[in-house]
Amino acid sequence: MNLTATKMKAFVLHAYGSPDALELRQVDRPSPGPGEVLVRVRATSVQPWDWHYMRGEPYIARLMPGGPALRGPAISILGADVAGEVAEAGPGVTEFGPGDLVYGMPPNGGGFGEYACVPVSELAPKPASLSFEEAAAVPLAAGTALLAVRDRGRVGPGQRVLVNGASGGVGTFAVQLAKAYGAHVTGVCSTGNVDLVRSLGADEVIDYREQDFVRDGGEPYDVIVYNAGRRSFGECRKVLTRKGVCVMVGGAAGRWVQPAGIVFTAVLRSLFTSQKAVVAEVVGSKETRRNLLELSALIEAGRVRPVIDRVYPFEELPAAVRYQEEGHAPGKVVVTL
Ligand SMILES: NC(=O)c1ccc[n+]([C@@H]2O[C@H](COP(=O)([O-])OP(=O)(O)OC[C@H]3O[C@@H](n4cnc5c(N)ncnc54)[C@H](OP(=O)(O)O)[C@@H]3O)[C@@H](O)[C@H]2O)c1
Repeated sequence: MNLTATKMKAFVLHAYGSPDALELRQVDRPSPGPGEVLVRVRATSVQPWDWHYMRGEPYIARLMPGGPALRGPAISILGADVAGEVAEAGPGVTEFGPGDLVYGMPPNGGGFGEYACVPVSELAPKPASLSFEEAAAVPLAAGTALLAVRDRGRVGPGQRVLVNGASGGVGTFAVQLAKAYGAHVTGVCSTGNVDLVRSLGADEVIDYREQDFVRDGGEPYDVIVYNAGRRSFGECRKVLTRKGVCVMVGGAAGRWVQPAGIVFTAVLRSLFTSQKAVVAEVVGSKETRRNLLELSALIEAGRVRPVIDRVYPFEELPAAVRYQEEGHAPGKVVVTL
């Protein structure tokens, strides 16, 4: 029997810790269950989801359903985005077969290994115009942005939308999607990313090192997509219309509570105001397939494109996580296998 044929390389997490806790190992290749396919991963991308689960932080999330487990990692092979080729279809799968090029979002990770099992509900054909690297930059970040802009913000033509954290993984997609849905878009980012955010179609860009979108606010916004920083809902309300919506995606990270504290305090506070704060939570969405297909259509129509900051080889995956964790990558950080 050829043992190497059933083994694969993967970065495995045995205990919570820094990127050094990710160990490159030979492990058993997983087998697809009913409704799953086995994907030969060609590229994955790194995002806050990975290091939250790698560190088990914020600690408060360990008490939340679906969050990192209390005592040690429940997910040993991280990586929430994959782009690659179907190696094997599990029982009952008719949508995909070996050789199909796909991209998607395995809900329990797997992208940090050479092969990952992905439910077909979390997968779609890879957009033909994208390379594996580009495709791997899309699912979780663009899926979150789609949920925030289309579903939770209900952004439509003529609305005024502010994207705070416009240069990040989610923000770069949120700016483009809000433009694609016909909004007037203001992006908030740091000085070095102003040109990038403008190139994504933002009508106005606020450099948060020079200007404060709350203090210097002009005409109010119908929707704020809140990805970064520590502004309270009370502050954001000052620049929202009377029935405006603040879509809470994330915020500055901390060890104990943040960004969960920023997000949930906003939602609680908005119970008593005409302006609302709502959460955009992509993990666990039942609509991943439909959303990926919509993103593919927007990508193929040239309305949305992934922005990639850096591409790392597989062996340097911990360095990619370390870099992403610094929180200043303009666009996505991708790893190729
Ligand atoms: N709810 C969900 O389903 C979901 C899904 C994905 C992500 N998230 C959360 O959403 C947040 C963003 O994720 P991401 O993948 O976009 O992260 P990211 O790629 O690391 O981007 C963060 C961005 O925030 C910018 N930033 C930092 N401080 C800022 C400030 N004070 N004002 C404006 N921009 C600021 C950074 O740009 P500069 O360096 O230029 O400051 C960076 O571009 C994270 O908290 C993440 O955990 C939630």
